[in-house]
Amino acid sequence: QQLRIKFISGSLRKGSFNTRLAHYAAAVAAELGLESEVLTLNACPMPLLNQDDEAEFGAPEAAVALKSKLLQSDCLVLVCPEYNGSITAALKNAIDWLSRPATQPAGNVFAGKWVALMAASPGALGGLRGLTPVRELMFNLGALVLPEQLALAKAHEAFTEDGSLLGDDQQSKVKSILQGLIAQQRKG
Ligand code: FNR
Repeated sequence: QQLRIKFISGSLRKGSFNTRLAHYAAAVAAELGLESEVLTLNACPMPLLNQDDEAEFGAPEAAVALKSKLLQSDCLVLVCPEYNGSITAALKNAIDWLSRPATQPAGNVFAGKWVALMAASPGALGGLRGLTPVRELMFNLGALVLPEQLALAKAHEAFTEDGSLLGDDQQSKVKSILQGLIAQQRKG
């Protein structure tokens, strides 16, 4: 059966480098034979988690929709902008909603799931520092996080006009991460 992979970009920005990287990686995943889909958080806006609202109204539709998408996936790539050395509020909020029993069907979509991490930043470190808290968060939720990760530096110079990645090294890295996920999935 064809493996299913989802990509979530942690940016809400229209011209987001991370969303661009997610689309590039999703295209590579499709070439490798995976059924792949990019999920952006703009497509599923959710309010900041407030337990009073959660108790009164339950989970927002967007969180339920995102959860059902993730339930239909074998593995996941989080493509994470770095804000002040950490995860974006939008991605953290979405993950918090997904982790709640109010987001039906109840159950942890991350437990036992292979997750790979990528980041892109115009800076020299490529958002590398922001991946450490995401790795820790995924660990706390029981995900299996691939050791290999990509932090794409100078992201404003890293893409061609049609959305491909310029550097051979970066292209190989994306492919290698996806192959790593495929290998883990086949083992399990
Ligand atoms: C940033 N940016 C940033 N970049 C970085 O490499 N390390 C950092 O710690 C931060 N911190 C940070 C905080 C806040 C609040 C903003 C808005 C931005 C810059 C950031 O990497 C840049 O805006 C990227 O383009 C954001 O990713 P997208 O939206 O292009 O995917």
